[in-house]
Amino acid sequence: MLNKERMPVHVAIIMDGNGRWAKQKNLPRVMGHNAGMKAMKKIVDHSDKLGIKYLTVYAFSTENWKRSLAEVTGIFKLLVAYVNSDLKGLIDNNVRVKVLGDYSQIPEDAKKSLEKTLEATKDNTGLQFNIALNYGGRDEIRRAVCAIGEEIKEGRLEPQDITEEIIADHLFTGSGGADAPDPELVIRTSGELRLSNYLLWQTAYSELVFTDVLWPEFTPEEYEKAIEEYQSRHRRFGGR
Ligand code: FPP
Repeated sequence: MLNKERMPVHVAIIMDGNGRWAKQKNLPRVMGHNAGMKAMKKIVDHSDKLGIKYLTVYAFSTENWKRSLAEVTGIFKLLVAYVNSDLKGLIDNNVRVKVLGDYSQIPEDAKKSLEKTLEATKDNTGLQFNIALNYGGRDEIRRAVCAIGEEIKEGRLEPQDITEEIIADHLFTGSGGADAPDPELVIRTSGELRLSNYLLWQTAYSELVFTDVLWPEFTPEEYEKAIEEYQSRHRRFGGR
């Protein structure tokens, strides 16, 4: 049974297995992403119902540009369809959307739709839904190092004064960006047992839950099972 008193504040998900799901059904890969988007919508709704404060999904990694043009274009079309069809729902449900990643290079229509969504939801106070888009954990750390280097160059910071908090604050999840705490729980679907460059800094102490279910078949029930698994573990943070 889910313990409502011990819900994670921040859940991060690697939505994996859309391609394999489509292949099993003899469908084009984009149809797998389409089914994945529908699954994602339900998980956003359910996170809100469960009182989770932050949900982060890996929608597009810095490595995903290597996929075929048709697939990349298809994923961004889905993003446009999602934000356009769901914007009212997101506003009604008080969801605040944020992006992790440098989305300046994504197709223009996707960028416009996304910016409209970010603006329209920015003052909402319910669930914060972070979409990791053109996101890579190493790229994120590299950007933080560059920004900190600039501050040193300008004389605003001394190298020996760099703390973990300062590094964390320069990530996409820092106060100038999504302003989100570290996730207590990371879920990856489809049986792969890797982090794949996802939230490398932020997941230092996260519980990792893996399931064989392919992302399009990841239902709210599966989600609750993953949270139960998280709740059953004892979290020690290395010390206690
Ligand atoms: C991983 O499955 C999934 C992705 C790289 C894309 C995720 C996209 C969505 C869920 C829908 C679009 C939603 C937004 C917000 C853009 P995979 O293709 O790696 O699956 P495979 O490992 O079985 O090939």
